[in-house]
Amino acid sequence: MNVFPEGFRHLPGYLDEAAQTALLDDIRAIVAQAPLYTPAMPRTGKEMSVRMTNCGTLGWVTDKERGYRYQDTHPVTGKPWPPIPASLLDLWRSVADFPDDPEACLVNFYDARAKMGLHQDRDEQVFDAPVVSVSLGDACLFRVGGTKRSDPTTSFRLESGDVVVLGGSSRLAFHGVDRIYPGTSPLLKNGGRINLTLRRVTT
Ligand code: SIN
Ligand code: FE2
Repeated sequence: MNVFPEGFRHLPGYLDEAAQTALLDDIRAIVAQAPLYTPAMPRTGKEMSVRMTNCGTLGWVTDKERGYRYQDTHPVTGKPWPPIPASLLDLWRSVADFPDDPEACLVNFYDARAKMGLHQDRDEQVFDAPVVSVSLGDACLFRVGGTKRSDPTTSFRLESGDVVVLGGSSRLAFHGVDRIYPGTSPLLKNGGRINLTLRRVTT
């Protein structure tokens, strides 16, 4: 039995196959306008294994020189991010229990070897809205802990169509992706995992 922090919700199979396929089409259209790029860590410039893009009025980016931040344009094309699709706004309105819509949707693409180290989402100006995240494609091993890096963590699988809500005291919980399980979903024909993270950034 997993023990989750207060305010943390895992909604397995929230999106059925038809909804996953429709959402994937929306994401393809976003990536066509705002291509996936390889972000780099602050200071060291070490490249992340996850490729990223965004939709929304603000997008989360990172590079060697300027570090983690939100900005309203794609760092490579210089163009504004495409809007958040209606399907994701509907999802947010159903699960976030928050009066305002999200401003940012980070699109993460994991190939078979990609992972994401334990971190907190704390580049936003306010933390009263939850972080809502959707998984598509291959399963992953997700890890969540407490608000201190040294707190104990719980690991479990996220499958295509699962939704996770980091709300309440879990809004600032450490979390990460330890590994991808290749070949566990037929959704993406070349494999891999897409994670969509919806966030409110400003007040
Ligand atoms: C993230 O924390 O940005 C990604 C989480 C995930 O891929 O499930
Ligand atoms: Fe995160």
